[in-house]
Amino acid sequence: MMKLQPIPALAIILYAVAGISLATGAASGQETAEKPYAAKGAQTCMECHDEPPVTLILHTPHAQKADARTPFASHDCETCHGASPQHLRKEEGSDKRPPVSVKFGVKSSTPVEEQNKVCLGCHEGGLRMNWQASAHHNADQPCAACHTIHATKDPILTRTAQADVCFTCHVEQRAQYRQRSRHPIKEGTVICTDCHNPHGSFGPKLLKEASLNDLCYTCHTEKRGPFLWEHAPVRDDCTNCHTPHGSTQERLLKVRTPYLCQECHMEAQHPSTLYSGASLPPTGTGERILAKGCLNCHNKVHGSNHPSGVRFTR
Ligand code: HEC
Ligand code: HEC
Ligand code: HEC
Ligand code: HEC
Ligand code: HEC
Ligand code: HEC
Ligand code: HEC
Ligand code: HEC
Ligand code: HEC
Ligand code: HEC
Repeated sequence: MMKLQPIPALAIILYAVAGISLATGAASGQETAEKPYAAKGAQTCMECHDEPPVTLILHTPHAQKADARTPFASHDCETCHGASPQHLRKEEGSDKRPPVSVKFGVKSSTPVEEQNKVCLGCHEGGLRMNWQASAHHNADQPCAACHTIHATKDPILTRTAQADVCFTCHVEQRAQYRQRSRHPIKEGTVICTDCHNPHGSFGPKLLKEASLNDLCYTCHTEKRGPFLWEHAPVRDDCTNCHTPHGSTQERLLKVRTPYLCQECHMEAQHPSTLYSGASLPPTGTGERILAKGCLNCHNKVHGSNHPSGVRFTR
């Protein structure tokens, strides 16, 4: 979970004297010593920002004043947005006011690194242990690309709403999940974060397990074996035959049988040569038989535990 270490009382006093915010983000350091926080905290800000979605933060864990770890236990809004006295006054001879010290979002003028420092000040570690090496960090994505702070419930933390947030950027996966065979994402049965950790992981492609097969085994345990007779491509990588998100073929297969099998078994010889992939015409009776055929006989394609299952027929 989160690495939120208790802060000793003495340290809090010292921090306060030095003018350092408990949130170790952009709001900390010398800057804050010169820039005092709003006298009445959130109340000051909410004199103007008194409407949703901004005010919805009051219903979230971040606004729990009684919880010493939260932004509202120190400088309220400015724990995240930074001390912003400049923003409380209009510019001379103008209706505009200078922006707050830290603005969040993909389009913000505050550098991503600076935005994320605020959040990581309280949320380093845990799920974010590998953030600095993650694809999203490397692609310069702010935390706020996925997270909505001013919402009663952050959509990305809701099983049925999560995918739509990811799909705003990952349009290819959106298309895959519209196909005939797919993991049940729409239903919320399986979600992106059952397989990926968007904050970074030890596996490839932000996968939550060290290898792709280990990931699949977490839910499809019966495919782990061990089998008396292993089918080499299954042990090697499930994506030799399957695609993880969605497919126009049934059972998430990359290609339909018999073509799938024939990609590797073109030379297969059978008791009757009729079953040889090599001798098949591109279309016709033989193919129709075989379209179902490979699996009708070789129905233990993931491996067999039968003493005479060496050909995966039982
Ligand atoms: C006197 C009214 C007023 C007060 C008080 C006020 N704001 Fe604003 N704020 C505005 C207006 C108006 C805008 C719209 C941007 C503009 O036109 O300058 C704005 C914009 C913002 C934005 C959007 C990004 C930006 O800066 O353009 C943030 C974030 C923000 N305010 C946070 C705060 C916080 C935090 C406080 C308290 C420290 C606060 N505001 C206090 C009037 C106010
Ligand atoms: C001052 C510390 C602090 C800062 C700064 C902070 N958070 Fe949090 N955050 C917390 C605490 C404390 C919780 C509640 C954790 C709990 O209940 O275990 C929390 C909860 C969350 C949650 C879970 C919310 C839920 O509904 O369960 C998310 C997501 C989150 N923070 C993201 C962020 C992001 C993104 C930022 C930066 C924009 C940020 N936080 C800045 C302290 C902070
Ligand atoms: C690409 C999208 C994405 C980005 C970018 C992202 N998050 Fe998250 N975050 C998620 C998702 C999805 C979850 C829900 C994870 C789960 O349930 O396994 C989550 C959960 C969380 C939580 C609540 C769960 C917990 O760890 O206690 C916190 C806090 C959080 N993120 C903080 C951050 C911070 C800080 C950053 C920036 C450094 C960040 N996130 C960047 C997608 C993202
Ligand atoms: C945990 C960090 C955090 C705290 C605390 C926080 N904000 Fe924000 N604020 C954000 C993030 C992140 C965004 C980007 C939009 C979002 O996530 O909802 C944002 C966006 C805004 C915006 C711009 C909204 C828009 O439409 O563009 C305003 C205004 C604002 N905050 C005001 C406030 C005020 C007022 C408070 C205190 C009552 C406050 N914020 C407290 C993180 C925070
Ligand atoms: C059942 C597990 C699973 C689920 C659920 C899942 N993914 Fe994946 N995803 C994978 C695997 C496995 C790969 C790696 C595929 C490969 O290497 O061929 C991957 C790869 C990716 C890639 C990288 C593609 C590339 O070509 O580099 C993206 C982006 C992605 N997934 C996004 C998502 C999004 C968004 C969701 C939710 C809507 C999601 N995934 C749900 C297993 C999953
Ligand atoms: C604001 C845009 C944005 C959002 C939202 C977003 N991503 Fe990404 N994601 C990116 C970018 C940019 C990359 C890196 C370039 C690429 O591979 O497309 C990336 C890469 C990835 C990869 C490939 C990692 C690799 O090592 O190649 C996966 C997997 C992924 N994202 C999953 C997710 C999931 C799951 C979510 C939702 C929880 C999500 N993303 C939300 C922008 C986003
Ligand atoms: C979080 C659990 C989970 C993970 C991880 C997972 N799956 Fe699934 N998988 C499911 C569920 C749930 C179904 C739907 C079962 C059903 O409808 O009866 C499913 C269905 C399937 C199907 C059948 C699809 C169909 O159309 O009938 C295949 C093939 C499959 N998964 C392959 C994989 C592969 C390959 C991996 C690893 C990349 C993987 N799964 C990872 C949960 C998971
Ligand atoms: C050599 C190709 C191949 C490989 C590699 C492969 N599969 Fe399959 N898989 C199939 C075929 C073909 C079907 C359809 C079987 C049917 O319809 O009777 C299937 C069906 C499935 C199904 C749905 C039906 C069932 O048996 O539960 C799941 C789940 C599944 N595979 C998971 C996996 C996992 C997990 C891996 C990796 C450990 C994997 N597959 C590797 C060919 C393969
Ligand atoms: C990615 C390549 C690949 C795919 C696709 C593939 N196989 Fe295999 N298959 C192999 C390899 C490699 C072996 C091990 C060959 C050996 O040991 O000589 C094997 C072994 C077999 C064997 C046992 C052969 C023997 O000599 O003991 C059978 C039967 C078989 N596969 C059937 C199938 C069927 C049916 C499909 C389609 C559902 C299929 N294979 C898809 C690569 C593949
Ligand atoms: C009518 C049942 C049947 C059908 C249909 C069938 N096979 Fe076979 N296959 C067998 C039997 C039985 C053997 C074992 C022959 C032996 O031991 O001499 C075998 C052996 C094999 C072998 C191992 C022998 C070799 O020559 O390498 C492979 C690979 C193979 N089949 C692949 C396939 C593929 C691919 C398909 C679909 C195009 C398919 N089979 C369709 C029954 C069938």
